[in-house]
Amino acid sequence: MRLVLVGPPGAGKGTQAEFIAAHLSVPKISTGDIFRANVSQGTPLGVEAKRYMDAGKLVPDEVTINMVRDRLAEPDAGEGFLLDGFPRTTPQAAALDKLLADLGTALDLVLELVVDDDEVIRRLSGRRTCRGCGKIWHVEFDATTREGVCDRCGAELFQRDDDKPETIAARLREYAEKTAPLVDYYGAQGKLVGIDATGPVEDVTVRAIDALRSYG
Ligand code: AP5
Ligand code: ZN
Repeated sequence: MRLVLVGPPGAGKGTQAEFIAAHLSVPKISTGDIFRANVSQGTPLGVEAKRYMDAGKLVPDEVTINMVRDRLAEPDAGEGFLLDGFPRTTPQAAALDKLLADLGTALDLVLELVVDDDEVIRRLSGRRTCRGCGKIWHVEFDATTREGVCDRCGAELFQRDDDKPETIAARLREYAEKTAPLVDYYGAQGKLVGIDATGPVEDVTVRAIDALRSYG
């Protein structure tokens, strides 16, 4: 299955992507994760992306599209994938459609995680990520994280640079202006399914898998 997860910053895309990708046995491809890996390795791509990420802005389309094109050409993405955080603009969506059409295939479904801004701010302000295994936690909802270590692998937890209040506000503005139009773009293709992404993580996963079952 070729699936895209869309939703505002903090909607839970990364959290759900892990479970959904495992359920579908497809690779999870997160543009945010790829950018962050490049930032921490200090690659030229990372140096360029960091300028935008720190300001809560989207990385330019051309850079992002080229990166995804390379990633989708890897053998593990041949039979299906779950894209988390891409596409994020209409030109990115059009480029993805073209890329897949050239390969003789197409997206199956776009799953939209629906959450309001207040919940997003609450989620992002308390997010912590594991330096060891990358697992995403929340200081309020995952009591085990209060010691600052990962309950799964024991490594240190950190707060993302772009989870500061002013950067969160900028990311929400970018989402409303540049990413929200994708709802209409994919709606017009008949590929969009929206699910309520509030409530416990496990409940959202059940709704997501149900949505895939009905449309897959
Ligand atoms: P990216 O990493 O994609 O960030 P984002 O879209 O802002 O999404 P987040 O990772 O912040 O949130 P999420 O929806 O994954 O939520 P999570 O599961 O972590 O992108 C970062 C930057 O990279 C961008 O700003 C941009 O600069 C650049 N970039 C990336 N892709 C790009 C593209 N295509 N084009 C251009 N630039 C791009 O959950 C959040 C928190 O909530 C966690 O603490 C979690 O534990 C908690 N939580 C999750 N679900 C629940 C629940 N049901 N109940 C309670 N808490 C929950
Ligand atoms: Zn860990």
